[in-house]
Amino acid sequence: MKNIVLIGFMGVGKGSVAREVIKHSDYIAMDTDDLIESMENRKIKTIFEIEGEEYFRKIEKKVAKWLEESVKNTLISTGGGFYKQKNIKKIGTIVLLDSPFDEIIKRIKEHPKAEKKFKKRPLLQDLEKAKELYDLRRPEYLKVADVVVDVTNKSAHDCAKELLKKV
Ligand code: S3P
Repeated sequence: MKNIVLIGFMGVGKGSVAREVIKHSDYIAMDTDDLIESMENRKIKTIFEIEGEEYFRKIEKKVAKWLEESVKNTLISTGGGFYKQKNIKKIGTIVLLDSPFDEIIKRIKEHPKAEKKFKKRPLLQDLEKAKELYDLRRPEYLKVADVVVDVTNKSAHDCAKELLKKV
């Protein structure tokens, strides 16, 4: 089985969809942010605060190399900026979870743990800046994606079913 690489903007629901996909398939799940936090033994937020974004991107690159060389049969959820890794297409089939910016923010705000969800994401502190980042990235996400799943107003379960049908 070829890996599936889930990409998309912060808060679009990559983690929730990944959990549904593994319930309905033989894939194992992995998350690049989780890998980085365990490699570094500290939170992404702390890595950004202490080391800066450039350092974080360097670890993402290391993770991307390792994924390409060593990981199979896996559904890999990625941080919102991971799509920039040059070897991403060699890791697996790229699936973009897509939704308009306002819908993403609305969904996070409605979540019972909304505050935590905003707090843990350094690039989601200023919503105006986040919108700029979204506008910049969306065409790039579409360019790198092999498959697009529109997640707007759909449950994670339905998105996972659609994803498995499309890959
Ligand atoms: C980032 C997204 C985050 C995390 C880091 C940077 C980004 O992951 O990797 O804060 O550049 O969009 P999520 O997409 O899971 O929030």
